[in-house]
Order: sequence, then structure tokens, then C-alpha cells
Amino acid sequence: MHVRTHIGVNAFLASLLLAGSALAQNAVLTIHADQSTAKVSPTLYGLMTEEINYSYDGGLYAEMVRNRTFRADWSGVPYWYLVEKGNAEAAMSEDKTTGPSQALPASMKLDVQKADAADPAGVLNVGWWGFALRPNTTYKGSLYAKADSGIDSIAVSLVANQTGAALASAKVTGVSGDWKQYTYTLKTGAIAPSSANHLVLTVDHPGTLWLNLVSLFPPTYHNRANGNRIDLMEKLAAMHPQFLRFPGGNYLEGDTIAERFEWQKTLGPLVDRPTHPSPWRYQSSDGMGLLEFLEWCEDLHMNPVLAVYAGYSLRGEHVNPGADLEQYVQSALDEIEYVTDGTDTKWGAVRAQDGHPAPFHLTYVEVGNEDWFDKSGSYGDRYAQFYKAIKAKYPDLQLIATAPITTMKPDVLDDHYYKRATEFFHDVHHYDKADRSGPKIFVGEWATREGSPTPNFGSALGDAAWMTGMERNSDLIVMASYAPLFVNVDPGGMQWESDLIGYDAMRSYGSPSYYAQVMFASNLGDEITPADQQGGGSRFFYSVSRDTRNNRLYVKLVNGDSTPQSVDIKIDGAHLAGGGKLVTLSAKDTQATNTIDQPRNIVPVETALVASGTELHHQMPPYSIQILVLNER
Ligand code: AHR
Repeated sequence: MHVRTHIGVNAFLASLLLAGSALAQNAVLTIHADQSTAKVSPTLYGLMTEEINYSYDGGLYAEMVRNRTFRADWSGVPYWYLVEKGNAEAAMSEDKTTGPSQALPASMKLDVQKADAADPAGVLNVGWWGFALRPNTTYKGSLYAKADSGIDSIAVSLVANQTGAALASAKVTGVSGDWKQYTYTLKTGAIAPSSANHLVLTVDHPGTLWLNLVSLFPPTYHNRANGNRIDLMEKLAAMHPQFLRFPGGNYLEGDTIAERFEWQKTLGPLVDRPTHPSPWRYQSSDGMGLLEFLEWCEDLHMNPVLAVYAGYSLRGEHVNPGADLEQYVQSALDEIEYVTDGTDTKWGAVRAQDGHPAPFHLTYVEVGNEDWFDKSGSYGDRYAQFYKAIKAKYPDLQLIATAPITTMKPDVLDDHYYKRATEFFHDVHHYDKADRSGPKIFVGEWATREGSPTPNFGSALGDAAWMTGMERNSDLIVMASYAPLFVNVDPGGMQWESDLIGYDAMRSYGSPSYYAQVMFASNLGDEITPADQQGGGSRFFYSVSRDTRNNRLYVKLVNGDSTPQSVDIKIDGAHLAGGGKLVTLSAKDTQATNTIDQPRNIVPVETALVASGTELHHQMPPYSIQILVLNER
């Protein structure tokens, strides 16, 4: 038995003694190691995200400039401020008459009356709650600009908020009267890592300067241009995700039809992307476009689960099935062509032009999102119309329905569960008796929602219990994804409480629920192994799977109680060979959690497990999630 060191051995022993009288009823788990109920779905665990909680902008998508397209609102141009050093005099305003592209028809206009080398004028950007700068690091930038004859260069600097010191600087030269893109590189020296910095763009001459699409990227995962944050991608990789469901969620639907995720407008050079409102109350830069989602899949070896807009938006607008829906069906067909087809097709050629000639493999397409909200009752017919058209061209695709329907049997049904831990404890057998002749199940969103901004240990217990149920039924449940995945923990960053991974500009951390996911997905066999449980407390849960290639058993145990739980494990039909291991995630109470400042309060602890023969007496600590990895002889 291993005990997490931070609890303290004495405290733990005391808790055992105190709890001794209240010890939960002994559980006996008889594992039929020579039998298999079914195959474990090889795609069981995956990811679901959308533009919520600053998941991409201000999150995974590594762009450092906030409101890089100078979008104005009633308050002016948010996140940009005028800079007038010393005697400099200037004014900034939105200019709706000129922009670098059709998609970005407006710009930021800087009118400089007075400026020189000693007293420059310009604008500054505050970033996504700062600019995270690290020592000796190169940041790659670009901007679109044009100027009248007075101005031909722009100085770009990363500046420390407290001291005003320039930490990295560059000069963009040759600025002319026509819109053009310029690139620059900012390299830090031996600075202390900090995100208390901002970006400054200045000129040293009177005149007029127009700016748009000011961008800056740190090093990204796999060095992708327009890529993702390294720390967050590494956290996702540790979850061994088999798929990514994108682009939403509510983000797919938009508040209105006009605000849906229009995939065509998220392709190609950033200057050709108009940006659009996320239903989570902020504008999406669309830097994370359709191809970026697919490349993210490529980077983490995930299968894309492509959700296509199906004619329903959040505020209740819907498109009638039949002729009205045809354009949306065609759009979905085009989108699938972009993802999967050769460069000899219209949209395959566009993908090649966007830099990715190789098609992506696609198995699942989801038709809409949470269409049970559509009170018009149109979803059954809308799904059927998409189904017929998509299957006619792509017969091998599996089409996911987002609500139960009576018009036909869908291939897969997407079920969503947001619950309290006790509700999940009670619902662990939800799928045990489910109809195996109905559609396969995709648990496309689920989470125990206790703890904010990220879930606490009580949530991790609810999650783990629920996952044992999903694993035991993974002949039916083909995929499952926790949601939401991300939250920016800075003030104003969160729209939805209890999100798996938290971060600010510089740091990130996994919640206890995150570590439960990592543990479950990293220790999964390919067959569901039947087991019988006798006794055990009401908050004791299990699942067993077997890796047939390595003759290894994965026994997952959850003790959601405040008292220890003893478990007698009996192996039927095999002998253990020793050399196993025990992975434990536990906490002193359900409120215990990880935070941005204390990111590793609760992390899995691995110890050796001496287990041979056919019996093993095991004692689980209070509030614990454990995985026993047992080798068979
Ligand atoms: O995950 C947050 C939201 O919950 C999703 O956007 C939506 O599908 C669900 O209602």
C-alpha cells in the first residue's frame, strides 16, 4: 500500500485508526481473467473543446496579441492603448474605409502630429493578460501596415510593465502607401520569465499610419507556424487522446445562424479570415480554423470527429428540412471533401493550397450539436437529410446524431452528462443494460461539475466512478470526451465552471479530474474482463480490462468514501507473475484541489506492487482512485 507523501504518513495512519471502526464493508472482486465480455473500443478516450473560456484565443492557440485585428466596439478598440512619449502628440481611431483585405476591411488609424526618435508615438497591446516572455527566446511577429509619406518605419518592442524596459526590439522598414505584410523577430536576452509585459509599436515622425493583423508567436508545439502552446499540447498528449471532437459544442451552432462556425471563413491566410462571434460572449479570431484543428489531430495522432452545422442555432433559429436545408447539406459535403478527398477535387485542392496536400482520415461526422434544444421537432428530418446525402458520397462514414430520433436509426448517438459526483456514483450502471441493437454511443460531453475554475478531488472521484461504467460498457460506448477541456484562470477568463485544465499566459496545470483521465486512458487493455463484486461500500466502483498482447490486467478501483476500503482480489483463470504496479490518486478530502499556484497538490503516485499467485488483499485509502497493473504468468 502506498500513501501520497503530502498527506503525511502519521496523519494517514491516524486516519486509518480513526476510521477503523467505520471501515467500509470488505469487497471481494473475482476477476475472470480467462474470459472477455467484449473488445474495449480502441477510440474510447478523446478530447472535446470549443472556443469557450478563452480555450483557443488566450489559450491553446499561441497567438500573443489580443484583438490583433483591431476590432472596435462601443468602448473604442479593446486591448489597445495610445502611446505618446514625452512631447509626442497622436490620436488613434478605427478607420472603416481602409483595410488589408476584403475579410478585414477596417483598420487602426494612428494620426501623429508630433513625434521624434526621443519622443515616439504609437499604440500598445496588453496581450492575453500579459505577454509571457522567457529568457533567450525568439518570438516571430508580423503586421499589415500602410502609411502616408511622413512615416516609413515602425519600431516594435516587448516592454516590461513595471520598469518600462524594452526586453526585445525590432524595426519594420520600407512601410509604403499600400497595404503590405511585414515580418519581425523579437529575441529576449537573459530575462526572468514573466508575463507582466506588453507590446509597443511606435513611429518617430509625424504622419498617418494604418495597422491591422498585428501578430506575435512564441515557439510552438512541433514548431508549427500559427501553432499551439507547447505546455498545453504536452498536457493533452499525456491524456493519450484517440480523437478530437470539433469545432463544438455551442460554438458550432452560434447564437444565430449567421454566427455559426462557417468553416470556409476559417481557411487560408489569416488576413482572409473575417473573425466571428463565439456564443461564449467574445469574438473568435478564427486563427484556430478547420485546417488547424486537423493539424492538431495530426500532431497528437488523434482521429478527427468532425461536427457539421446542421441547421439549428442556440437562440432557437432553425432551418426547415427539405429545400431550405440543402445549402447546409452541401456545405457539409464540401467540408468533408476538404478533409478527406484528393487534390483532384475542388475542396481537396483548396486544402493543398492551404499547405496540406495529404488528405486526413475521417471515420465520424457529427450532425449538429445538442439538437434536443430544437423545439420545432425538425431534427429527425434534418439528420435524415444529412445522412442520405453524406452516405451517398461517403458510405463508410459513421454519422452521429445529437438527440434521439424516430425518423431512422442513427449510426451513433451523442449523450451528454454534466452532473454532481453523487449523481455519477448513482448512475455508474447507466449503460449496463442498454440495448445493444440500438445506435452505438458517443459520450461526447461529460464532467462532474464540482470546483471552480477547475474541478476538485470530489469531482475526480465522480469522474473516475463514471469512467469505470463507461469502460465496462465500451463495446457500446465507442468514444467519450470530458468537456470543457480548457479554462483561462485570469479574471474574466471563465464562462463555464469546472474545466479540466487551467492556465494563464505563462503557466498551466491539470485538475485532479485531469489526472484521473490521464490514469484511465494510459492504463487500458483491449478486452473488457468480466468480474463479480461481493460486498464493498456504496461508493466503491471498479472496472477491469486486459491487454491481450502483454497478458496484463488493469484493475481500476474507486473509493469515494471517507473511510478505507479493503478489497480481496481473486484471479480466476490466470496466475499473477509479480512485477506489477499501483497508481494512486488520492486526497484528504473532496474539496482538495490543484490551482495555478499549487499545481501539484494532487498528482498520481506510482509504486511497485508485489502480486503473484491468484489472490491479492488490497487496502484502498479513503477518497482514492487506484489502478492496479497486474502481470499474468
Ligand atoms: O461544454 C459546454 C457546453 O455544454 C457545450 O458547448 C454544449 O454542447 C453543452 O451544452
